[in-house]
Amino acid sequence: MEEWYKKITNAQSLEEIEEIRIAVFGKKGILAKEFAKMKSVPNEEKAAFAKGLNEHKAKLMEALNHKKEELSLAALEKAMKEEALDVTLYSVQSTTGALHPVMETMDKIVEYFVSMNFSVNTGSMVEDDFHNFEALNLPKYHPARDMQDTFYFKDELLLRTHTSPVQIRTMKNTRPPIRMIAPGAVFRRDYDLTHTPMFHQVEGLVVDASSKVSFANLKFILEDFLKYMFGEVEVRFRPSFFPFTEPSAEVDISCVFCEGKGCRVCSHTGWLEVLGCGIVDPNVFEAVGYENVSGYAFGLGVERFAMLIHRIGDLRSLFEADMKLLEQFA
Ligand code: DAH
Repeated sequence: MEEWYKKITNAQSLEEIEEIRIAVFGKKGILAKEFAKMKSVPNEEKAAFAKGLNEHKAKLMEALNHKKEELSLAALEKAMKEEALDVTLYSVQSTTGALHPVMETMDKIVEYFVSMNFSVNTGSMVEDDFHNFEALNLPKYHPARDMQDTFYFKDELLLRTHTSPVQIRTMKNTRPPIRMIAPGAVFRRDYDLTHTPMFHQVEGLVVDASSKVSFANLKFILEDFLKYMFGEVEVRFRPSFFPFTEPSAEVDISCVFCEGKGCRVCSHTGWLEVLGCGIVDPNVFEAVGYENVSGYAFGLGVERFAMLIHRIGDLRSLFEADMKLLEQFA
């Protein structure tokens, strides 16, 4: 019997304990065998014999349970140690991204016009000569083409120089009334403080029956729009020329840097030019086969708006992926 107490004390695992339990308490275990010996014990010794065996039985059971508990606890502790997560470990720092100031400005512009019931149309960045120039009253050899030199592919294809071709495509695909804007990237052979070879424009076009669209409508919406973008600024319209509008105007706001007093940015005029607009030229309507309609159009450069809103001095810096600059506007 003693050897079983030793075995229990020395057991190393729960499996071993289970083996011992079966060997001691099982049907064919040693206790069963010992009890079987009762038959051959003389009657007067039977009681003492049984008592002795039962005491062993109880003690062995207690020792077994005790060891079992001890081993279970050790196994649990071991598992906890092995599976522990070190929550104090440093993780790779994650950063939150933000919209590029140009895209953010574009969103704000689009948001305004959508709220005024304009639909948003887009076109291809690769255009043909007809949609980019010809249909916009810019025939070949027209001197106004000089200001919009671009990259040419074969078959009269080119990188669009403005978003105005979306006007033409929309008018060809739908019937009036039209109330649309066209945001998107455009391309020109320019590179200086205020120009990059790729930039973004938002075009606007409203067309309806001939009596329904006036310069007053155009003036109202642009003034309201510019105040939405820049706050309480003065807005003025200056006569200008665009081949696709007649009359045409350039729109200025009072300088956001000096509040109209005159500074380096506004060339001491107190005014900043922000967009072009006008009443759609009849030749444009003729090119798309429209009759008895009137309309207004406008076009603006998104980078210029972003520069004025964020007070950025050099337009080219918007394209340099300089995090120090960009993070300021995030
Ligand atoms: N397309 C002109 C440009 O890129 C901008 C513009 C001016 C668009 C007047 C218009 C407009 O629709 O009416 O310089």
